Amino acid sequence: MEKKTQRHAFSGSLGFVLAAAGSAVGLGNIWRFPYLAAKDGGGLFLVVYIVLALTFGFSLLTTDIAIGRNTKQGPLTAYRVVDKRFGFLGILGCLIPAIIMPYYCAIGGWVIKYFVAFLTGDGMNAAQDGYFTGFITSDVSPIVYMVIFLGVVSGVIILGVNKGIESFSKIIMPILIILVLGIAIFSLTISYTGDDGVVRTGMQGLKIYLVPDLEGLTFGKFFSVLVDAMGQLFFSLSVAMGIMIAYGSYVKDDANLVKSINQIEIFDTGVAILAGVMIIPAVFTFMGREGMEASGPSLMFVSLPKVFAQMGVVGNVIGCMFFAMVLFAAITSAISIEEAVVSSFMDKFHLKRVQATILETVIALVFGVIVCLGYNKLYFEVKLPNGTVAQVLDVMDYISNNVLMPLISIGTCILIGWVKKPQFIIDEAEKNGEKFGRAKLYAVMMKYIAPVMLFILFLKSIGILNIFD
Ligand code: ALA
Repeated sequence: MEKKTQRHAFSGSLGFVLAAAGSAVGLGNIWRFPYLAAKDGGGLFLVVYIVLALTFGFSLLTTDIAIGRNTKQGPLTAYRVVDKRFGFLGILGCLIPAIIMPYYCAIGGWVIKYFVAFLTGDGMNAAQDGYFTGFITSDVSPIVYMVIFLGVVSGVIILGVNKGIESFSKIIMPILIILVLGIAIFSLTISYTGDDGVVRTGMQGLKIYLVPDLEGLTFGKFFSVLVDAMGQLFFSLSVAMGIMIAYGSYVKDDANLVKSINQIEIFDTGVAILAGVMIIPAVFTFMGREGMEASGPSLMFVSLPKVFAQMGVVGNVIGCMFFAMVLFAAITSAISIEEAVVSSFMDKFHLKRVQATILETVIALVFGVIVCLGYNKLYFEVKLPNGTVAQVLDVMDYISNNVLMPLISIGTCILIGWVKKPQFIIDEAEKNGEKFGRAKLYAVMMKYIAPVMLFILFLKSIGILNIFD
């Protein structure tokens, strides 16, 4: 049995919901969701994503938070407290955030770079061809920005659960929402006459984003949308990466878990959808449908700066607001990723918060430098089983998201669905007397549907189901 020390706790539901929403809303929502939506035919991806969020995502989120609150342990030791035989899942639950942290900080550093560029009126330059590649392939600059990002995150973590994580989230999250709403509304008001003389508007872009385009839809295409949406859900809801176990462990026993989980889900899915409203109509208006669909992962760092540059002075202000917003979202998520590792070290090795934070910071720093150099001195190209040509960052992303996260989730489904039984989580959720409305759905998801879907996702990730492509 792990030693139970006096554990810090969020001061109330609001603190917990804002911290957890801060964790969930991150680069996944703002950078990844819109480009997947653009690639997968907008509305279709959206519908599939929302259905999955309400069933699959909700089940995994509830499970992680309830395991955390029940065991009052970080991910490394929590699974062992639930059932000794499943202690190995804890190693994955700590390893996954430890792998994600360095590359999340590297991307966080890129966001700071763009924020500074727009803040200092250098947005036009940031929109030039080759700016992004020039920056990430340079020797020192990406490392410096990565270190700044990591320093801010570790600083908040050292301050603790209440004075650090909770207080920071309570200030940042309302600002983030105002920025998201403001930019989304702005994006819908723009119009632009392209070189071809065609006038395109933000509202037309919104239609493309929201209305499912079912023309030429094949089973293979639908399958790939489904797999994309499932993979995105993990990342976006911060499930299967130990984070929600760590945050759940700081929730008081009398808090209304069911209500909080619903609010976190609405927050995360709402911001993801709004991120699409911010980005897709703007890119469509200035670059047309082809430009929008062709952007892929470079949507945020290459296409969007070009869009802002075409708006002139207004574009510089909007660009500055946009990258400030992305930065806030990235910092609150990175805080939760680091906290998953820090809480694990504290619980397992009985370290003080400062010691555990320094240890994780050093690990993230070393690997963060390797990630940055992955575009420079350590550049290599490797073909992954899912067909992507990858560098260091992509390899780490692939191992954590595509391989380890489905594996830990399958293990969790076996533990909760079959060994411990879903009632264990349902009882935890209803501990404060509230009714768990989706309890039946939850039980069916954890026993049957989620493990099958996760197994398919895993096979697809490791390249075994590419026959459907
Ligand atoms: N949930 C976090 C994100 O979306 C990790 O970026």
